[in-house]
Amino acid sequence: MRQIVVRGNRSLLGSVRIVGAKNSALKVMAASLLTEEPVTLTNVPAIRDVDIMSEVLRGLGLEVERRADRIDISGGAGPLSYGADFDQVSRMRASIIVLGPLVARLGRARVAMPGGCNIGMRKIDLHIRGLEKLGVRIDVDQAAIEARADELVGARVPLDFPSVGATENIMMAATLAKGTTILENAAREPEIVDLADCLNKMGADISGAGSSTIVIEGVERLGGVEFPVIPDRIEASTFMVASAATGGDVTVSSVRPAHLGMIIKKLRQCGCEVTVSDKAVNVKGRPDKAVNISTLPYPGFPTDMQAPFMALLSLAAGKSVITENVFENRFTFVHELAKLGADIEVSNHHAVINGDRCFSGGSVKAPDLRAGAGLVIAGLAARGRVEISDIHHIERGYENLTGRLRALGADIELVEDGSVVSMTADDPEPAVPLPEIPDTKAGLS
Ligand code: EPZ
Repeated sequence: MRQIVVRGNRSLLGSVRIVGAKNSALKVMAASLLTEEPVTLTNVPAIRDVDIMSEVLRGLGLEVERRADRIDISGGAGPLSYGADFDQVSRMRASIIVLGPLVARLGRARVAMPGGCNIGMRKIDLHIRGLEKLGVRIDVDQAAIEARADELVGARVPLDFPSVGATENIMMAATLAKGTTILENAAREPEIVDLADCLNKMGADISGAGSSTIVIEGVERLGGVEFPVIPDRIEASTFMVASAATGGDVTVSSVRPAHLGMIIKKLRQCGCEVTVSDKAVNVKGRPDKAVNISTLPYPGFPTDMQAPFMALLSLAAGKSVITENVFENRFTFVHELAKLGADIEVSNHHAVINGDRCFSGGSVKAPDLRAGAGLVIAGLAARGRVEISDIHHIERGYENLTGRLRALGADIELVEDGSVVSMTADDPEPAVPLPEIPDTKAGLS
């Protein structure tokens, strides 16, 4: 059994380079289904979900080669299967993102029902209704989604909720539809903009990505591309919160500060010193004030940072309230955090965090990816030894988290059946003193 073991109460110091965004990489990988030509992606994170998406694409007939942070995808001209591998898809619900590209390219697709997970039901009704507006006929049973289309025709597609996945699936399908698609109430996440940038470099005609209305003019075909994935704003935020939880002094580099606006704002509100430069952010000191947080679609506070912040706010003074507005069941982690000493009351989608706590040692289980990160953060601050199991959730979305935290001075190990797994971490970049930029000039949107 693999576990993360951390002996906390050590301040993190130094600089960590942030890798490519999981939630963009998976989508631009799926976009390769839209072209017969080769696609090369760079700045791709070395995480389990990328491996699973590679298997899904191979199962559809593509060749996928990975070398360090580069992925070469080819074979798009060859015969492609319209049926995604059920085992692989059921291992990662994000695989639903192949539905739109497949049905646009082949006129047919069969994808396993992604199913829910422990943060919520993860419905896909908006994906289905949107694709149906483009002329796709969809049959759904417990196990699978069958989609067929003789021709995709552009249409006006208003979304009831700015769903990230639905926006991406419909946008990709619309690139090869006849005519114009207007996607209304679209998601505005940076990963949507990244996908649209990649598709436009492949020859698509998309405007408005990043706003609530995206216009896609269908084109005959898409070509190949070499495309760098944007930095992972959630990974950057996780390291920033880890620094604050340990009263550290950490610089996250190779980031887009404009994607971190709400996190920077909330870290400053709870009393941390945050300095921003054009591609790096430094976080100093620990939180000393309570803050209230409401998760919202971008540019609101990201739901993926709710759990890490819940750990952090347990250490701040006073009473904080977190309201989770995006997923219906994203407080499962409170029970695990309480084992380490947190004092949090949950009622419906509000969590009241009584601060001024000190985490103690203990054994906990990661219920999902971001809650797992929250438990690591609690462990880094804990006075004692924290053992975290079910860490496969964490390895899905964070590249070498233990090695990179160790490089920042954490006493943290990956343990397999009782013995330490050797760890490597890129030598931390020398902590580069950042120019002091007063808040007003931070220029953050
Ligand atoms: C993406 O999930 C991310 N995953 C999630 O990150 C992230 O939390 C989420 O967006 C919100 O930002 C990937 O990009 C792979 P949604 P997605 O569709 O696309 C409801 C992580 O930890 N909904 O915006 O599934 C849904 O139930 C993961 O990296 C419908 O009702 O998110 C949820 O309550 C976790 N019907 C809400 O919308 C639909 O058809 C947001 O879902 C689709 C969604």
